[in-house]
Amino acid sequence: MKTFTTPRGIHEHLLRERRGGARVGLVPTMGALHDGHASLVRLARGRTDLVAASIFVNPKQFGPCEDFSRYPRDPERDARLLEELGCDILFLPSQNDLYSAADRTRVQVEELSDALCGMSRPGHFQGVTLVVAKLFNIVQPDEAYFGQKDAQQALIIQRMAADLDFPVRVVLGPTVREPDGLAMSSRNAYLDADARRRAVSLSKALSAARDRIERGERDAEPLAALMRGILESAGVAVEYAAVVDGATLEPRREVEGTVLVACAANVGATRLIDNVALNVSGNEVREVLLEFPEWNRYGL
Ligand code: PAJ
Repeated sequence: MKTFTTPRGIHEHLLRERRGGARVGLVPTMGALHDGHASLVRLARGRTDLVAASIFVNPKQFGPCEDFSRYPRDPERDARLLEELGCDILFLPSQNDLYSAADRTRVQVEELSDALCGMSRPGHFQGVTLVVAKLFNIVQPDEAYFGQKDAQQALIIQRMAADLDFPVRVVLGPTVREPDGLAMSSRNAYLDADARRRAVSLSKALSAARDRIERGERDAEPLAALMRGILESAGVAVEYAAVVDGATLEPRREVEGTVLVACAANVGATRLIDNVALNVSGNEVREVLLEFPEWNRYGL
């Protein structure tokens, strides 16, 4: 595996590789890698010739009171793991490699960035879209891989790629979970034993809602109440528990078509999120990924 720290270094290397005919896949991460990240690298491995992963704890997507300084960092361990997974290229820039005090440009995906997590994390998705737009320009991948775990982020990036004409195909991977259902997350490292027990209530709430939908419930309101009840009984502080439209993230009264069932809660001092996307048509309920390849003008 080749490691690059500067945008110019990786850009020029990949330019040569692409001229030789290689198709490039990009897996953007903030490191502290777990099986969720690994699944995206494997997905990339099976679809492209050259897999590039980036590790960058992006300060612009953390609020002033959030966990930027204590976010887990272990680049040596991450690099070993990526190597084992067959990753070809690691992009590991420092803050100064990506940002300068002269920067004035923002990338804002309107409306989608204000829903769900955007309500409690103003500016968060603007930080995400800025760094991902930069990574797309630096790496110029044919495909980029994102997890359904962060469904709102994946949707916003698909909208950004379509709106700004990035000729990149955005591919989603399913949420990888612990055996008890807890969605894997770098932030799970913050959970003590008691918080870890309570944390499973997020996936439990989503499973209960899904179950109720499979048994015929089509009203969003009782589903939200059901999820809230499960989370509150587990003693976690609910931020949202909602059924929203799978493409616009607008609240839904009725469960029909593609919907996102999502929740966010503070488990002690740790904020966790989880979701399940469902396609509901008559009696049929299918779990889906929030992928919208039809937004891509390039047929990629
Ligand atoms: P990070 O939280 O490190 O996640 C990197 C990628 O892994 C994201 O696409 C995320 O959705 C995916 N991922 C995380 N947990 C997962 C799980 N349990 N199953 C499947 N995929 C999972 O998301 C970010 O970093 C950043 O916001 C980033 C996009 C890199 C921009 O800074």
